[in-house]
Amino acid sequence: MEAMHPDIERVLFTEDDIKGIVKRLGEQITQDYQGKDLVLIAVLRGAVVFMGDLMRTIDTRCAIDFMAVSSYGDGAKSSGIVRIVKDLDMDIKGRDVLIVEDVLDSGLTLKYLMKNLSNRHPASLEVATFLWKDVPGRTTAVDPKYVGTHCPNEFVVGYGLDYAERYRNLPYVGVLKPEVYS
Ligand code: PRP
Repeated sequence: MEAMHPDIERVLFTEDDIKGIVKRLGEQITQDYQGKDLVLIAVLRGAVVFMGDLMRTIDTRCAIDFMAVSSYGDGAKSSGIVRIVKDLDMDIKGRDVLIVEDVLDSGLTLKYLMKNLSNRHPASLEVATFLWKDVPGRTTAVDPKYVGTHCPNEFVVGYGLDYAERYRNLPYVGVLKPEVYS
C-alpha cells in the first residue's frame, strides 16, 4: 500500500481543528434554520466529507441532496468552465437551500450554481464553505454566509479535497509537496 502522508508538506488543519470548525458552523446553522424547510445540497465530490460531518452537527429538520459539477479537471487551476454532471433529485421551490462546499477558490463554480438554483425559486439560498482560499488582490465571485476557515493560496488536499482524485481520504487538510504535482 502506498502511503499518502509523505506527500504532504505541512498540516494546515488537524482533525481537532476541523471538529471545532464544523461544530461552530453546525450551531450557527441550527440557530438560523429553526422552523425552516432546510435542504443541504453538497457539491460532489469534494464536499461529501464536510457534508457528512456538518449534517450531524445540525440539530434541526433537514433534507439532503447532491449535485455534481465539473470545473477543475485534474490540474491545480480553476478552468472557469462549469458543467452540471448530476442534477438534484429534489424540487427546491419554496425551500431553504444551503449549498455545502469544501472549498471556495475563484467562486466561479458557486456563482454558476447560485444562478442556476435561484432560477428554481427556493425560499432562500445560501452557501456554507469549509475553506475559503485567500488570493491576494482577487475578489471572489460569491459571498458565502458560512465560512469554516480561510486558507492560504496553496495546493491543499485532504478532508475531501483531491489532487487527481487522490488524498480525499486524509482526515486533515494539508499542503501538497510541489514535487507531487509539478
Ligand atoms: C472544487 C471544489 C469547488 C470548486 C471551487 O471542485 O469542490 O466545487 O472546485 O473552485 P472555484 O471556486 O474556483 O470554482 P472540483 O471541480 O475540484 O471537483 P471535486 O469536488 O470533485 O474535487
